[in-house]
Amino acid sequence: MKILVTGGLGFIGSHTAVELQEAGYEVVIIDNCSNASESVLDGIEAIAGKRPVFEKFDLRNREKVREFFKKYPDLSGVIHFAASKAVGESVDEPLLYYENNLTTLVSLLQELEKKQRAHFIFSSSCTVYGQADTMPITEDAPVKPAESPYGNTKQIGEEIIRDTCKVRDQLQAISLRYFNPIGAHPSGRIGELPLGVPQNLVPFITQTAAGIRKQLSVFGDDYPTPDGTCIRDYIHVVDLARAHVVALERLLSGNNDANYEIFNVGTGKGSSVMEVIRSFERVSGVALNYKIVGRRPGDITEAYADTTRANEVLGWKAESSLDDAMRSAWAWEQEIRKAE
Ligand code: WQD
Repeated sequence: MKILVTGGLGFIGSHTAVELQEAGYEVVIIDNCSNASESVLDGIEAIAGKRPVFEKFDLRNREKVREFFKKYPDLSGVIHFAASKAVGESVDEPLLYYENNLTTLVSLLQELEKKQRAHFIFSSSCTVYGQADTMPITEDAPVKPAESPYGNTKQIGEEIIRDTCKVRDQLQAISLRYFNPIGAHPSGRIGELPLGVPQNLVPFITQTAAGIRKQLSVFGDDYPTPDGTCIRDYIHVVDLARAHVVALERLLSGNNDANYEIFNVGTGKGSSVMEVIRSFERVSGVALNYKIVGRRPGDITEAYADTTRANEVLGWKAESSLDDAMRSAWAWEQEIRKAE
């Protein structure tokens, strides 16, 4: 069976392409290479022994999307990662985010509603919860006003899918609300490739340890948490990728309870910034150079998943620990520095 992976050269997309191919699926990737390089295909091929079919174009080009679905009438499913995802950038460039993240989703759904039956997995985010009132966070937790246009595009994206599924029962869809994806494939052939200064914690840690960044700034240790630093649910990207294959197979086998479902994808465990730093030092043997600075605007105190639905309904559970993920992140950082 042939599966379209949009944004398949990206961090989570490339790891999902590997898991799909290892599960026996044929993968077709669409990517405009705005935030990833075509060389990622070599990494996917090196791991899975097969090179995905690659179509390089921008999903904002409606005509190209139409042509693509004419060229591939036999797609069994679509996993949609392609989107802009830098929270800070979205505050400065809201229209870029609403255009890129929403018009592309509408175009894909307009092609899928023409089919007898379509299976669609949407890359959503725990960011839709904002600062949830209770931990762990369940899928029924209220969606709060978004803290950024990026987060808003995930909320609106879910609503677009929900409203379409209500009146198009040929569309079978699942939104996966990711918590914090980290780490890299154990082969060291693919991983996170942040362009410029990393916004996220783990790539900043590994780049500091590699000497590319001088020092990690810890954004605040005066939060109401045990050690004062923010708590997140850090999930190994391979575990996250595998959740996509399980979700896709739920749809392909018709085991879904409704034609639109939502699942949190996390480990169910919260880790503070300091715990992530300690984990890195433990697995790498490198003492990290960091300093405590002021809070980052927009940061929430705490977020970690209630994974009951993912474990018991979806039938998926994260297997890797924080140390496993940090070990793979460090191995990847050293690998890419060798290549320089
Ligand atoms: C984690 C913690 C920071 C960098 C983001 C997106 C979210 C989702 C996951 C896409 C926070 C602290 C960070 C640094 C630090 N992505 N930190 N120093 O903000 O939880 O979520 O990634 O869906 O939408 O917002 O992840 O890695 O940026 O921050 O102290 O240099 O690390 O304050 O507490 P975040 P993050």
